[in-house]
Amino acid sequence: MPVWIVVGSQWGDEGKGKVVDLLADSFDVVARYQGGHNAGHTVRFGDAHFALHLVPSGILRPGKRCIIGDGLVVDPKALLEEIEVLRGKGVEVGENLLLSDRAQIIFPYHRDLDACRELAAGDSKIGTTSRGIGPAYESKASRSGARVSDLTRPERLRLLVERGVEEHRRKWCQTGDPGWNAAAITEEYLAYGRLLAPHIADTAAVLHAALRKGDRILAEGAQGTLLDIDQGTYPFVTSSSTVAGGACTGLGIPPTAVASSLGIAKAYTTRVGGGPFPTELLDQSGEYLRKRGNEYGTNTGRPRRCGWFDAVVVRRAIEVSGLSGLALMKLDVLDEFSEIQVCVAYELEGRRLDAPPADPDELARLRPVYEMHPGWRASTVGARRLEDLPDAAKNYVRALEKLCGIPIPIISTGPRREETILRTDVVLLPGLPPQVTV
Ligand code: GDP
Ligand code: IMO
Ligand code: MG
Repeated sequence: MPVWIVVGSQWGDEGKGKVVDLLADSFDVVARYQGGHNAGHTVRFGDAHFALHLVPSGILRPGKRCIIGDGLVVDPKALLEEIEVLRGKGVEVGENLLLSDRAQIIFPYHRDLDACRELAAGDSKIGTTSRGIGPAYESKASRSGARVSDLTRPERLRLLVERGVEEHRRKWCQTGDPGWNAAAITEEYLAYGRLLAPHIADTAAVLHAALRKGDRILAEGAQGTLLDIDQGTYPFVTSSSTVAGGACTGLGIPPTAVASSLGIAKAYTTRVGGGPFPTELLDQSGEYLRKRGNEYGTNTGRPRRCGWFDAVVVRRAIEVSGLSGLALMKLDVLDEFSEIQVCVAYELEGRRLDAPPADPDELARLRPVYEMHPGWRASTVGARRLEDLPDAAKNYVRALEKLCGIPIPIISTGPRREETILRTDVVLLPGLPPQVTV
């Protein structure tokens, strides 16, 4: 069973990029399975700083094969720009990056419609990344989308773009002409197809061959469980399957190939965009978390909403994806608090809830039930051994393990690769030989 999956277990931006980069050295293949360039995955080591959007974080490790899988929606212009930025920083991007011929294409009309709907929605907007993600998945689901393989077939692409322009004109919700020219879009995208051609492949078949060989595959999640189209806080979600199950459908690999899945969670919670957020702090503590944690979107620069750790949410993520362990990120951001709250359940009109309700209005109305934990008021920045943490910080980690019911084999104490505690007293990833080092 040579596949391991990294999954965001809150509302995204948990630190998946850092963990994938950390683990990538022990794998042969790193594969993104869903989403698009709504993702922003930060990787730092030494003085190096990368923000990855579509390209798997494994690209930064020489010799690793990276795959952009079937389940993604790809803006080819954004992908080409990302490849250029990486090359400009000395990262090799060539045969080591494969793009699925089945991934869906994001066109300008998807992006414009995303922005136009958000504008029309006013206060009830989702707060999307305006990248065209939702409309592109809509085209996929309505079976009118174009796929990467169509970028190299001029006649077919022309027809699909003409139909796409017509269809999206009917959905257009602003006054004035959106200015889409099907012929120009087709030419532009055929040019992208020529540039991307060396990377295009039947990536599921590549993964099947890797599975037969016994290569180790790391599936890189994007977004988080609570942004999943089925399992998240609908309608304030993204449009894809962010959970571990999405790795199988998004890469074309069987569930039986999966050895285990690791959840990524911050030691507190953040969310960017609209929608319910039970433990959100609208006071000075929230402002402090935002400043100290540098909680501004990697992609859009938007301030992230901040709040306490929500064990109800993380427990749900554990159940949905069958997570075997958690990487607990940004512990250092809590260093100065004298008291730290953890949400252990919700209360709604006198009833106690142990799971998030489906109804967004109920989610917005419920009150978190908090458990208080003493802070440590000492620096954990850059700590690399469990023994180096203050007792109260160790107790906090143990309390979260107990509340969530799974071990925390990775504790992150700074943005850099090396600022990490890899515990040796608990299993890192079941099924993986214990050889990961930083
Ligand atoms: P992703 O989308 O899940 O990959 O997460 P992002 O990269 O969007 O956001 C995580 C942010 O936290 C990035 O700016 C990281 O550099 C930073 N980060 C990750 N781990 C730590 C940590 O342990 N401590 C601190 N202070 N920052 C961290
Ligand atoms: P990574 O991979 C955090 C959020 C948006 C918005 C909602 C829908 O970096 O964790 P979309 O553009 O997908 O239609 O927006 O989802 N969102 C993210 N939030 N991290 C992400 O990715 C996100 N990708 C989408 O802010 O609320
Ligand atoms: Mg991010």
